[in-house]
Amino acid sequence: MADGTAKIEIGGTSHDYAIKDGSVGPQVVDIRKLYADTGLFTYDPGFTSTASCESGLTYIDGDQGILLHRGYPIDQLAEQSSFMEVAYLLLRGELPSKGELDEFTYTITRHTMVHEQLTAFFRGFRRDAHPMAIMCGVVGALSAFYHDSTDINDPVQRRIASHRLIAKMPTIAAMAYKYSVGQPFVYPRNDLSYTANFLNMTFSVPAEEYHLDPVIVDAMDKIFILHADHEQNASTSTVRLAGSSGANPFACIAAGIACLWGPAHGGANEAALNMLREIGTPDRIPEYIARAKNKDDPFRLMGFGHRVYKNFDPRAKVLSKAATDVLDKLGINDPVLDTARELEQIALKDPYFVEKKLYPNVDFYSGVILSAIGFPTEMFTVLFALARTVGWVAQWNEMISDPAQKIGRPRQLYTGPTMRDYVPVEKR
Ligand code: ACO
Repeated sequence: MADGTAKIEIGGTSHDYAIKDGSVGPQVVDIRKLYADTGLFTYDPGFTSTASCESGLTYIDGDQGILLHRGYPIDQLAEQSSFMEVAYLLLRGELPSKGELDEFTYTITRHTMVHEQLTAFFRGFRRDAHPMAIMCGVVGALSAFYHDSTDINDPVQRRIASHRLIAKMPTIAAMAYKYSVGQPFVYPRNDLSYTANFLNMTFSVPAEEYHLDPVIVDAMDKIFILHADHEQNASTSTVRLAGSSGANPFACIAAGIACLWGPAHGGANEAALNMLREIGTPDRIPEYIARAKNKDDPFRLMGFGHRVYKNFDPRAKVLSKAATDVLDKLGINDPVLDTARELEQIALKDPYFVEKKLYPNVDFYSGVILSAIGFPTEMFTVLFALARTVGWVAQWNEMISDPAQKIGRPRQLYTGPTMRDYVPVEKR
């Protein structure tokens, strides 16, 4: 590489490709003409070295453990901001003034109700359905209810769809929970904050007064902030890929939810808490560490390791402290937290985890907090989806507005049979 140009030599011929600068972080080699110039594709399963788009939303330095939204460090946002403010920041690019925040919050609040027909839709699911299965179905179905915000070429419709998705996600998530426990749906209350309203819809019942504990509201809001966006992760890339074909935003977000569900992604917080409960007591930790290191055992330490962070996940640091705060303030003495702390200490000193740079990720402590708040493990990924909807929507909008946007269509290295003649079944 020299002077902003990368030279690739193939069969004695040299080809030049521009090196593009971001505002911070690694440069990229623009190889869009590589195939036309050389007849070659690049091979990068898992996109470990491929930038799929330009984005101004979120920056991660995985080696340093840095996460910035529009330039602001995640720990500052988690400690000092609110989820609504972070949503505004991600969508509009700057922190809002007081008036702008009030107006944005008012707009989101006025979209919290869902079409009444959706309650009938819910009743089509089995009561024991996983709430993420319900989320995939119901969010996808929103495009059948809100026809007036599915034209992606109309910026006003895009904005309305964005507001609807952010506003209705807590209502749908709470309904998924209520349906699974056989309690009546609770309608949104627009006098409450975004997060307090979600907790009220989830945990209140018509039979008695529900007290919203400010400690819980604050912890929940922090968890939402910490999950709001995370650059081009699997589910966000799924939303972008689905959206690149011109699909409507409700369908795209449903695709993101489906991707998030997997245990290597959003499903890991559920898996991490299940693992901590299975370990049970700190004396059993060595057994699980040994299993995680055993190549013949598929077991992995859930909540450990990250594709991008090769240092502490900065979100895990915030949540580690929040876990202690919440459990202390609620007076809960959960042995799972002791097991988590001990496991973290042992793993951080173990050469296997040190050499592979495996640190606790955001999922390691979030489950402990969510469980203390009262959520069953099946709801953990739903909460992740609720918060990440802000990032998905912001990334989807950014993609639609990008003049370089094209339908996403990766290439492949074909290794199947070459051309051969069809043989009728009686001759096979
Ligand atoms: N426990 C034990 N070993 C691990 C773990 C783990 N949690 N994570 C990675 N490793 C090992 C792998 O076995 C591999 O070893 P090898 O080089 O000897 O083959 C090496 O570390 C690299 O692992 P990869 O799977 O290649 O790393 P990748 O970047 O593809 O995976 C991932 C990242 C999927 C997060 C992985 O670390 C993992 O499965 N962790 C557990 C699940 C989890 O917590 N996911 C949440 C991610 S955060 C989020 O989605 C919000």
